[in-house]
Parts: sequence; structure tokens; C-alpha cells
Amino acid sequence: MELKNLTTFHIGGRAQHFYIVNSIVELQERLEYIRAKKMKYYVLGSGSNILVHDQTLKGVVIKLGPGFAKIQKKGNSLFVGGAVTIPKLLSYCRANNLAGAEFLWGIPGTMGGAVKGNAGTKDKSISRIIKSLTGISGLGKIERFPVEKILFTYRGSNIGDIFIITEVELALHKSSKRVISTNTNKYRQLRDQQPKGYSAGCIFKNPSGQSAGALIEFAGLKGRISGGAVVSPKHANFIINRNGRAKAKDVWELINLIRRTVEQTSDIKLELEIKTWGEFK
Ligand code: EPU
Repeated sequence: MELKNLTTFHIGGRAQHFYIVNSIVELQERLEYIRAKKMKYYVLGSGSNILVHDQTLKGVVIKLGPGFAKIQKKGNSLFVGGAVTIPKLLSYCRANNLAGAEFLWGIPGTMGGAVKGNAGTKDKSISRIIKSLTGISGLGKIERFPVEKILFTYRGSNIGDIFIITEVELALHKSSKRVISTNTNKYRQLRDQQPKGYSAGCIFKNPSGQSAGALIEFAGLKGRISGGAVVSPKHANFIINRNGRAKAKDVWELINLIRRTVEQTSDIKLELEIKTWGEFK
């Protein structure tokens, strides 16, 4: 499987092994096999926050299939499968007059990825609407955590890379179509200021009290090109795969250039917000 076709960057080599799983039992069987073979595994959601290297990715890429893409309302909770995408969640909420998740508008990820990375805007993160989450550990054990047991940080959490989130319980509230659409429009406007094209969203985390985009612009790197990749002239914290043919190494060169230059111009070490899969030096 070409991972290029499964990432929003449109970059990445083949996965050595690729499994789509549709039930807990199937997932546990696969994990048992992976453990027995001592292989490394990666969990793929929407591929919207990763840079995958250009070579074959050794090990297994696991993707949750439609079996994990259900949404169910029970009492005051909404149970959302790990493979449900944020756009799908938001259209369910609109159709059922449920408010509280509008700030996630424009994020392409799956629930699993969004929760692990505590996705959101500058001032609101998904952790604030989570009640609990359920998933499978590397040892194949089903575990459920109330939100209080998880440490969420700015664009991160202490949920390990190999923990597979299968379901998330959300706390949303009843509202009206009018309120939901007013809130949605506010967040749509924010996202409209961001560049289009193949990308992985923001590349770096915002250093405390600062904006990575502004620092990169100040370093004079807007529009800088490496092979098929460019530092977006619209928002400098985005790297765009210009022609769909950029390589991971092009993006990595820009990442290194940005880090070096921003350290020289602002004395700040930028930290990656995206994840990398494979080898990058
Ligand atoms: N700015 C510049 N130059 C640039 C880009 C931005 O000067 O090239 C300035 C803007 O003018 C603004 C400030 O930097 O004054 C902040 O920019 P923006 O409002 O675009 O927000 P951001 O901090 O860059 C954060 C999140 C985004 C999220 C937006 C909207 C991070 C790293 N980024 O961006 O998340 O969409 O707020 O809420 O936290 C992502 O996670 O992938 C992502 C894009």
C-alpha cells in the first residue's frame, strides 16, 4: 500500500504490511500476530498530521475500518468510533442539534488521531468535550479511561503511540440549528485564512506566547522552496506539497532550514507538531 495516497501531504513510501481491521477481535488477533513477529506498528487515521519517509516503511500500518466508524447517542453521551472523521462527527452533530464540537471545524483527522494529538484551535482543545475513551493496548487488552486519568497538553496527550483508540465518549449539549451554524461560521472563517493544497496542517507547535507562523515569516522564509515543497506564502507554519510530487526529504529540508534560521533570528527552538514515520536525519 502506497502511504502517499493515504496522507493529506500526499507523501510517503509503501507500507511493508497494511491491515484494515473492523472489529475488536480482529484487531486483537492482528496485534497478537504483530507481537509474535516482533514487528513495529503504526496506527493510521486520516493521515492528516504525519510526514512519512519516502522509503518502504518497515513494519505494519493498521487502519481502523468502517466497523469503527459508528456514532451512537446514549443518554447524555455520544459514543464515537475511533475511525469517525471530524467532518463526519460535525455533520452528525448538526443533523441532531448537538452543540459543543463546532470549534473542530476544518480539522480533517479521525477521532483517534484528534484525541491523541488534542486537536483544536489556539484556545480550545478536544479534551474539553471528552468524558472517557476506550482502546486497545499493545498487549491486546481493552482499556477504558475516564478523561481525568489522561494527561492532555497543548497539542498532545500521554496516550502512547501504540494504544489504539477504538471509541470516544463525548459530552455535548442540545442546541438549535441557528446557534450551531453561528458558531460554525466563526471557526470556518479562522480556517479560511489557512492555505489550501496538500499539507499536514501546522508543522510546528506555537512556542508559549508566540506564533510559529509569525516567527517563520520574521525569519524571511515564506515562499522558500525545496524540490516540490514550499513554505506557504499565505501562512508560514504550513509546508505545501506544490505539485503533489514533493518528497518527504524536500519537506524535511525545509523543516531543518526553518529550525536553524528561527533559532538564529529569534533564539527559539521550534518543536514539531506533526508526527514523523520512518527515518529522518
Ligand atoms: N502569522 C504571521 N505570519 C504567518 C502566519 C501567522 O504573522 O505566516 C500571525 C497571524 O497574523 C496571527 C498569529 O500569527 O497574528 C497566529 O496565526 P493564526 O491565527 O493563523 O493561528 P496559529 O497560531 O498559526 C493555531 C493552530 C492551528 C489552528 C489555528 C486556528 C497551532 C500550531 N496552530 O494556528 O492549528 O487551526 O490556531 O485556531 O497550534 C494545526 O493544528 O495543524 C493547526 C493548523
